[in-house]
Amino acid sequence: MTTPSEPPPVSIAEYGRLAAARLPVMTYDYFASGADDEVTLRRNREAFERLALRPRVLRGVGVPDTSVEVFGRRHPLPLIVAPTAFARLAHPDGEIAVARACAAAGVTQTLSTLSTYSLEAVVEAGGGPRWFQVYVFRDRALTRSLVERAEAAGYESLVLTVDAPVLGSRERDVRNRFVLPEGMYPANLVPEEGQEVRPAGEESGLARYFTSRIDPALTWDDVDWLRSVSRLPVLVKGVVRGDDARLAVSHGAAGIIVSNHGGRQLDSAPATIDVLREVVEAVAGRVPVLLDGGVRRGTDIVKAVALGAAAVLIGRPVLWGLAVDGEAGVARVLALLHEEFARAMALCGCGSVAGIGADLVPGQGGG
Ligand code: GLV
Repeated sequence: MTTPSEPPPVSIAEYGRLAAARLPVMTYDYFASGADDEVTLRRNREAFERLALRPRVLRGVGVPDTSVEVFGRRHPLPLIVAPTAFARLAHPDGEIAVARACAAAGVTQTLSTLSTYSLEAVVEAGGGPRWFQVYVFRDRALTRSLVERAEAAGYESLVLTVDAPVLGSRERDVRNRFVLPEGMYPANLVPEEGQEVRPAGEESGLARYFTSRIDPALTWDDVDWLRSVSRLPVLVKGVVRGDDARLAVSHGAAGIIVSNHGGRQLDSAPATIDVLREVVEAVAGRVPVLLDGGVRRGTDIVKAVALGAAAVLIGRPVLWGLAVDGEAGVARVLALLHEEFARAMALCGCGSVAGIGADLVPGQGGG
């Protein structure tokens, strides 16, 4: 909780600093870390910071309309909550607190396969619009049953993570021998399977779990397979190249998420904002393209939309809000980004999301 004597954080960065001060080192490091030297983790932020916005003036904007329609649903702003594992490490209410804050704000939540409340519990607790992230297990029957449960529970899309055939080496987790505490496990799975993230060993418990359970050899045929076992649209998350984006579309992807997994998988991967344009051009309007990685400001959302993203996803900012103040902290993080986005639109001379054009980003799209 923030206390009455403490002014509430005014930015995502402040939430991050407070979360770092409050969370146990093992937990903070698990959420904050990137792979190897964390080059890609830093690059995501640096790339956003490097881009300038070239505002237009005297456009009579007034109060901008920040809403946008994506996949047949109107979103209050082009922002979706990204899947992140093990939210109960940040706060006892975990994914349930995130669900309630999202529902109140009308923001879509993507629940991780590795959530610490089950996909049904999140709905029962008052979740709003929701997507389900899919890791494909070696055990296809298990994967299929998860997908069927998600469909039955009203999840609207499947988000297939394709950048994790093995887990990236998060050296902070290796050093900390990352494990889940007693009593916590991936709640969508039966406890015996989830327990494997727990026992202490010489490495990250999650890395060990991946090696034993997650399929390391997925191909584009698995996108077809996933589509064949569900009526839900499948978004492919983890694409950073135009040719892969074209393949995803040809395999029936309903959307592409340009992502490097928050810098947690292949270190040296490019910043997502730097490859967005290539992906958008390859997709040529056939399906929406979304982006995550380093979004921390309303101006970042403007930059991503200007370069062709239908929406962005945020992961760590939600965890920082959750760690600092539970549901209220997540609500504040969403509100901060909404306010910042509206202000950035007004300052750029954009009255609607459709009016956020590439001309705002010199060198990248406009002059
Ligand atoms: C899980 O997906 C992680 O990145 O830790």
